Amino acid sequence: MRNKIGKFGFLGFIAFVMCSFIALKLHKAMLDYPSYWPAPAYDFVKNPVTDDGFELGRQLFYDGILSRDGTISCASCHLQATGFTHVDHDLSHGIDGRIGTRNSLALVNLAWSTSFMWDGGVNHLDMQALQPITSENEMDSSLKDVVLKLQVQPAYRKLFYKAFKDSTITGQHTLKALSQFTVSLVSSNSKYDKFIRNEKGGDFTAQEKNGLALFRNHCASCHTEPLFQVQDFKNNGLSIDPTLNDYGRYNITKNKADSLHFKVPTLRNIEFTAPYMHDGRFESLRAVIAHYNDLDTQSISLSKELKNPMRLTPNEQTDLVVFLKTLSDYEFLYDPKFSFPKNLQ
Ligand code: HEC
Ligand code: HEC
Repeated sequence: MRNKIGKFGFLGFIAFVMCSFIALKLHKAMLDYPSYWPAPAYDFVKNPVTDDGFELGRQLFYDGILSRDGTISCASCHLQATGFTHVDHDLSHGIDGRIGTRNSLALVNLAWSTSFMWDGGVNHLDMQALQPITSENEMDSSLKDVVLKLQVQPAYRKLFYKAFKDSTITGQHTLKALSQFTVSLVSSNSKYDKFIRNEKGGDFTAQEKNGLALFRNHCASCHTEPLFQVQDFKNNGLSIDPTLNDYGRYNITKNKADSLHFKVPTLRNIEFTAPYMHDGRFESLRAVIAHYNDLDTQSISLSKELKNPMRLTPNEQTDLVVFLKTLSDYEFLYDPKFSFPKNLQ
């Protein structure tokens, strides 16, 4: 008996190793990312990224057809040249000029995220697009209306057929196509990445090296390399804005310990994603660093990673900003395959 279990256990183990290997191969085939990065969290088996699915998703991402009156596309609030965020707006602007309650998030390396939105209110990328489509401050439509509008367009029927071998357009295929585009937004060619890989263009100046050392000391416990994020929610010491009354993760869990905890956002392309924080309260990286430097480290609600006073000198703060700018990935920000599709009028 014991022998039998042993045998099945062993075969099971081999099957597990093979499945993991195949899954990893699948990721590598569908997503171009450095070999030393962790494996993505997104389940590519359930929604394999194909060229046709990606192109359809890209077209939908840039098309106002997803909004009630055709004026707002995903790209209205997620612009490529600013790391797919809404630059210059503290709170995002949607349909009829309505103002939302949060700053738009950058869309980058989403394949490694397990929760979405500042409060983690969405736990699967395939479901995420429903939120802006139906939110009355953003696109104010419904998946049903979107499908009806797409279905009467022969060009879209063709694109859906190419992507899913089915010209009957469904909400599920619409959402899956959008994820095939957003999950492919991988940024891994910044100066920092080239420095890590010892590649041409990756020579750090003394100031950048010092900035990296300071970063590893004070910031990397939450904004963890190589993705500069962790799958967690933290309190980084921001005071509550009395007009927005946004308690972040607490709104979802109703657990007091989560009060004022927000998603730890990626810092990739941070040079271009101003303003900063969930409510866009800081205009510049200098202001962000001044916030961290002046924290009330005695505050009980502050996450433990920030309890040691930083006491950075003005020069050190400058070095930190200089380092953060090495996270800009111009190949990503200007990659034509992520830009406005030519066939969309
Ligand atoms: C009116 C502006 C607006 C529009 C239009 C919009 N978004 Fe967003 N997006 C935001 C804001 C604001 C957030 C953060 C919301 C929150 O935390 O509550 C966000 C968050 C996201 C996230 C989560 C990112 C993360 O790291 O957690 C994804 C993915 C996303 N949007 C994709 C899309 C897609 C796809 C569309 C089109 C279907 C779209 N957005 C349309 C403003 C917008
Ligand atoms: C305790 C974990 C933690 C540590 C340590 C930490 N951060 Fe953050 N950081 C966060 C969280 C959480 C947010 C989002 C807060 C919000 O918007 O409410 C954030 C937001 C930011 C943003 C704004 C990002 C955006 O897209 O708006 C920047 C820039 C930033 N941090 C830089 C740094 C730097 C530089 C350091 C080191 C000096 C640092 N952080 C240390 C948790 C942390």
